[in-house]
Amino acid sequence: MPFNNRNRSLLSLVHHSERDLHYLLDLSRDLKRAKYSGVARRSLAGKNIALIFEKTSTRTRCAFEVAAYDEGAHVTYIDPSSSQIGHKESMKDTARVLGRMYDAIEYRGASQAIVEELAEYAGVPVFNGLTDEFHPTQMLADVLTMTEHCSKPLHEISYAFVGDGRNNVGNSLLLVGAKLGMDVRIGAPKALWPSEEHVAMCRGFAEESGARVTITDDPKEAVRGVDFIHTDVWVSMGEPIETWGERIDMLMPFQVNPDLMAAAENPRVRFMHCLPAFHNSETKVGRQIAEQYPHLGNGIEVTEDVFESPANIAFEQAENRMHTIKALLVAALG
Ligand code: CP
Ligand code: NVA
Repeated sequence: MPFNNRNRSLLSLVHHSERDLHYLLDLSRDLKRAKYSGVARRSLAGKNIALIFEKTSTRTRCAFEVAAYDEGAHVTYIDPSSSQIGHKESMKDTARVLGRMYDAIEYRGASQAIVEELAEYAGVPVFNGLTDEFHPTQMLADVLTMTEHCSKPLHEISYAFVGDGRNNVGNSLLLVGAKLGMDVRIGAPKALWPSEEHVAMCRGFAEESGARVTITDDPKEAVRGVDFIHTDVWVSMGEPIETWGERIDMLMPFQVNPDLMAAAENPRVRFMHCLPAFHNSETKVGRQIAEQYPHLGNGIEVTEDVFESPANIAFEQAENRMHTIKALLVAALG
């Protein structure tokens, strides 16, 4: 597979080489500068892209739409309820229909098997916009953001993900760090560690890249000396609401609060979150949880004081979703 990623799907990052990832990151930087300096080209003129969202989204949808429009492409947004997918038509058939009309398809939904099936039958590139197992477009933005906020070479950058270590973001941060030769740590209670199979695969990639991989149930050990602390929601989309009580009990020691930030022993440590974040009780769910579990303080996976501090670079990370998704589209279709 050529490293320029032409006509290439992005399903998990498992099959992308270190060189492929560097190509996409370099192109993201180029496209970001081109947009800032007003010299952008419309390299996707005449292309049509389908955006299927079987789960809700703000960033991923907007990033795909703006990236496509900036480059002259058209998109069709298909929301969780307005298509025949799943209830009246299989993914295999949907893939064969959309592949005849569109130049590429983005898909967000539950199982990784569905996005893999879509890619198998569509005949056009398919981009995973989040499944229960992986969130690969998020990873391009996360790595770009880390390189922009740390002067070290990529191989020397260290980061920890604390929280639900086996959700899509935890799995993907472990994978991308292992591929790129970084120092990656997962801090989570043992019951929420990534699967043994996933860890073994990532350790295999780490052997090739020189990455350091740590999985620990000690939150302070996870963050000691790191450049970046990442977290994510403790209950992901599609998980039952009843999960909250058990998750809060398990994950309270992994909350990103001033004590955990201090445990990094690095005054330059930065906080990252794919967003949306529960950092106060100003959302409907945040308020319900705050009323039920007052010992959490102000916030759930991250406290308000950390979130509103200068250490938080989650909004830079959110902006980079657009530049990196643009690179993915331009590389595949441009
Ligand atoms: N980070 C992320 O994927 O956000 P959305 O759910 O808003 O797309
Ligand atoms: N783990 C989260 C990520 C949201 C972007 C979820 O799946 O809900």
